[in-house]
Amino acid sequence: MGKRTLVTSALPYANGPIHLGHLAGAYLPADFYVRYKRMRNEDVVFICGSDEHGVPITIAADKEGVKPQDIVDRFHEMNKKTFEEFGISFDYFGRTSSPVHHETSQDFFRVLNEKGVFRKKSETQLYDEKADMFLPDRYVKGTCPHCNYAEAFGDQCEKCGTSLSPSDLIEPRSMVTGDKPVYKKTEHWFLPLGDFQNDLQTWLDKTENWKPNVMGQVKSWLTQGLGDRAVTRDLTWGVPVPVDGSEGKVLYVWFDAPIGYISATKEWALQKGNPDLWEKYWRDKDTDLIHFIGKDNIVFHCIMFPAVLMSYDGYILPKNVPANEFLNLEGQKLSTSRGWAVWLQEYLKDFEPDLLRYVLGTGLPETKDADFSWKYFQDHVNGELADIFGNFAFRTLSFTSRYFDNKVPKAGKLSDEDRLALGEIERLKKEIETLYETFRFREAIQKSMSLARAGNKYFTEMEPWRLRKEDPERCGTVLNVCCQITAALSVLFAPIIPGACEKLHKALNIRQASWDDITDHILTAGSPVDKGEILFNKLDDETINAQREKLEEQTRIREASNPVPEPIKNTISFEDFVKLDLRVGEILTAEQVPKSDKLLKITVDIGVETRTIMAGIAQHADPKDLPGKKVTVVANLKPRKMMGIPSEGMILMAETPGGEFRFITSDADNGSVVA
Ligand code: 2FM
Ligand code: ZN
Repeated sequence: MGKRTLVTSALPYANGPIHLGHLAGAYLPADFYVRYKRMRNEDVVFICGSDEHGVPITIAADKEGVKPQDIVDRFHEMNKKTFEEFGISFDYFGRTSSPVHHETSQDFFRVLNEKGVFRKKSETQLYDEKADMFLPDRYVKGTCPHCNYAEAFGDQCEKCGTSLSPSDLIEPRSMVTGDKPVYKKTEHWFLPLGDFQNDLQTWLDKTENWKPNVMGQVKSWLTQGLGDRAVTRDLTWGVPVPVDGSEGKVLYVWFDAPIGYISATKEWALQKGNPDLWEKYWRDKDTDLIHFIGKDNIVFHCIMFPAVLMSYDGYILPKNVPANEFLNLEGQKLSTSRGWAVWLQEYLKDFEPDLLRYVLGTGLPETKDADFSWKYFQDHVNGELADIFGNFAFRTLSFTSRYFDNKVPKAGKLSDEDRLALGEIERLKKEIETLYETFRFREAIQKSMSLARAGNKYFTEMEPWRLRKEDPERCGTVLNVCCQITAALSVLFAPIIPGACEKLHKALNIRQASWDDITDHILTAGSPVDKGEILFNKLDDETINAQREKLEEQTRIREASNPVPEPIKNTISFEDFVKLDLRVGEILTAEQVPKSDKLLKITVDIGVETRTIMAGIAQHADPKDLPGKKVTVVANLKPRKMMGIPSEGMILMAETPGGEFRFITSDADNGSVVA
């Protein structure tokens, strides 16, 4: 056994299903790494679980009108299953509502409290008197002082994106009762991060091979200077604070969640029938602790959690935190509330996990934000998995089974070309190892594919179909080389596309593949080989367009059912309002304006006269349906020319959340004044 490694992936909140962004951030790269390490016969344990506390959970529960426990039970099971189906090979997937976790995180709090690590301070916080509760920032809504959006949250305005604190809001209101919150004093325990500044710096100075994006963020936190961070909250959902005088308080979710890695390791050890085994992975300096996370979690894993571990004493600190940047989708930010996401359960209805594992792997946001598009998916499946890897394995296996009686042919004297092709195996293997060890999975995958590329090129140049008749012995040598490369590929790619590689192992009769089997002589001459099968089918345009449409459709549905309401405009005076002359009218004629996609030329009888009005509704209304419709017209708007035609007013319309337009209609006589 080699080195010991404990790998963790960020505990996903159990408030919704897993999507592509999650996968590309913290799970897929960790799984590549762990599978690689296992194949090297290293002692590696892979830990994850559900993060079941915190405001995201209670908000999800409130939205559905169910209990937080119902939400976490549902999503814990769902996400655990999704990860399994996707081949994310955790050794243990725990949950932070478990008794072991409650005990472990309470023990951490108690010990740190007894050691005098925390500072207790009182501060004023927003409080809902009717509900008798303190309000987390997300539970306060009000008008954004920047853009006037009336539904801004206490921590952020979703309309203009500004970060806010609840006191910034104009007319704040509690999301629980709708009442105006008051300020009330409350006492909390704080972790004085400033006290750890030197120790953190010393530890960080000794770390190696950290990604610049991660170290950059950590350094900037340290340079700014670290403040006190509250580790308790006034909430009912969470791990109760385990000291006297703390009724109604729970541990801050970011205090308890990372301890969840430890609790889950304890549960894993219990399950293995060796309850003390967890300590080897957390308290023995020969273990390398690696946290895979997304970039929004950096401060918690590189500053706060290490400070907690240091204070407790005896725990190892992370050796590396290879955080990834964000993944965008079709050029836009992923947004679950807008439905702009690809959920894995949906993906798995249509495709094999291997395809996405490979394609996402080639485009991981390792050093900067990356974009996933269905076109990118199609191009990489067709152009690489099918045309290069699949094609090479298929032509090798089918040729061998057909012309060499399903057996690996014997190699004769090797030519320079043979040696060059076989030499690629060892050369690339070494390079790929370095890439895995330094968390550069994108490049590791690209390099792995270059072996298949080299194999294809060799096959084409050697022309075995010609040699078969002209020089059967030489043909055997060429196919032996091709079989060895195919076998090497089946091992090399096993961390990335385990499903396809397992099929290949079966076809090549490779029983158990470990990393060091990647040599130029994996297969012995005469060993049996199955007939080739198509490993990856090509994806046609129709399949890909259907995915794009699905994405757009789900966004349309979400936006229609959960619209972000337009903010109310600035108040106007009554004097300003009465300046408007609104009249009931009736459409007489309507026609499309030539050379314009949008404009209709409409004549309207407004009682006192007939007006010509240009309206930009051609995409929403058929001109022949309009005559006879009763509408409301702004009758005293200054005329202006559109496409050279003067428009003498405006027809009022309401835009629905789904983007449709409706007339504001009335059965009053034409010319009636609307007021
Ligand atoms: O950002 C998140 O989704 C958090 N639930 C991650 C927690 S990671 C760890 F600390 F538990
Ligand atoms: Zn705003």
